[in-house]
Amino acid sequence: MNVLFVASECAPFVKTGGLADVIGAIPKALAATDVSVKVLIPAYPALAPLVAKGQAVMDFADLFGGPARIVAVQAEGLDLLLLEAAHLYDRPGSIYLGPDGNDWPDNDLRFAALSFAGARIGLDGLGEWRPDVINAHDWQAGLVPVYLRQSGAAKPPPVVMTIHNIAFQGLFEGHRLAALGLTADMFHPDGVEYFGKIGFLKGGLALCDKITTVSPTYAAELMMPEFGMGLEGLLASRSSDMVGILNGIDLDVWSPETDPDLVAPYSARSFKGKAANRAEVEKRFGLTPSEGPLFCVVSRLTSQKGLDLLLDCLPGLVDQGGRLALLGSGEPGLEKAFIDASNRYNGAVGTIIGYDEALSHLMQGGSDAILIPSRFEPCGLTQLYGLRYGTLPVVARTGGLADTVIDANDAALQAGCATGVQFAPINAAMLSYAIARTCALYRQPKHWTAMMRRAMRHPVGWDVSAAAYRAIFEAAQD
Ligand code: ADP
Ligand code: GLC
Repeated sequence: MNVLFVASECAPFVKTGGLADVIGAIPKALAATDVSVKVLIPAYPALAPLVAKGQAVMDFADLFGGPARIVAVQAEGLDLLLLEAAHLYDRPGSIYLGPDGNDWPDNDLRFAALSFAGARIGLDGLGEWRPDVINAHDWQAGLVPVYLRQSGAAKPPPVVMTIHNIAFQGLFEGHRLAALGLTADMFHPDGVEYFGKIGFLKGGLALCDKITTVSPTYAAELMMPEFGMGLEGLLASRSSDMVGILNGIDLDVWSPETDPDLVAPYSARSFKGKAANRAEVEKRFGLTPSEGPLFCVVSRLTSQKGLDLLLDCLPGLVDQGGRLALLGSGEPGLEKAFIDASNRYNGAVGTIIGYDEALSHLMQGGSDAILIPSRFEPCGLTQLYGLRYGTLPVVARTGGLADTVIDANDAALQAGCATGVQFAPINAAMLSYAIARTCALYRQPKHWTAMMRRAMRHPVGWDVSAAAYRAIFEAAQD
């Protein structure tokens, strides 16, 4: 089976969050189930060296304001299709934001172009290669089924839309319809129209064949107003076409036995090496050694991630001998609050603002626990890395966090199945309690090391989920 992925990021080439990790990993897992995937992404400047090595396979005389072409190249075990369109993607800085910190003003055109190119490949194929299914990811690929419908083609390929985060919907003013090459008949409630605006994700979800999201619990949550962010009604009406498939992780990239960013490797059989990694994390974050657990956070700093709640818990965490190393970037208010906290709790709380892939690996290797107090979390990957590295996840009970971590309550400890700590409802008091429970468990090495060993053996690869993707790709063709 041939599948075309359409997405705005793909690790290790271009990444702002978990979407990239997932797009970079699933194709390799699907290959083992005899599904051949090509991944269409924009040719941002970081991809220029790959474009130079590739081969042009499709041309557009004018794609939303300038010439464009698709360049095919193989890299890191992936079949990439790079959409080269200098007027849309050849600019410095963030792939989504301009230098002023706001969205690029032409983001509608930039990702309409991506979707349009995806639809074109679906309709025309690339030489011999034709996708049997298109898997469109998030709002940036939301117009794929819209352009396919608009083409009037008798048998366009089916589209599976995957929701990684419904908080980002790609909403634009209604008057942009013609600029986006959309016809007036698409601007209705069963198409892209969304309360007078154009909704890229809305249009995709209305017109696609199947819908997936990245965990079973998030799939259920999305049909409720607190989580569906306005699209809960549409999703409920399509519930028979929708399924939640848990993300996995790329074990070639995330394994403490082989991770080149660790100062000492370790495994579930022997985690002696973890101590050297902890010492290195302490050094990097200016932390003094302590008898208590070293907690880490590796996260975007946005309200989704609930890290404002953690600020209230710091006095208790430090009092119990805990340490905190935080790596993140995002909202200026949160960045400042954590910098202030590391000054106030000098030696006990360390903050590094920025994005640093190698440091994030070292932190997974050197910390005892990873804190993820998200208000909502479609899947979350850092708790999966935590499990794999024996860095026990302390998580809010929501979305994929609820589906992947087994809380160390008395029953689970007795049954010998706990892998972390969960808390709910999601507020500072319950997070504080979760931190206290974690500190108490850490003081009982028998429980702690058993949990570490179990966590490290918990299956977090892609095997099971790749089979589930394959099944939905098959169902989409029925
Ligand atoms: P989301 O996609 O919502 O940000 P995920 O947990 O799915 O959340 O994925 C986040 C990914 O981004 C993980 O691979 C994580 O390690 C990485 N990440 C987040 N912030 C940083 C950072 N400041 N530096 C390095 N990696 C980061
Ligand atoms: C989104 C979600 C995150 C998920 C990731 C990959 O960024 O916020 O929970 O893990 O997509 O699916």
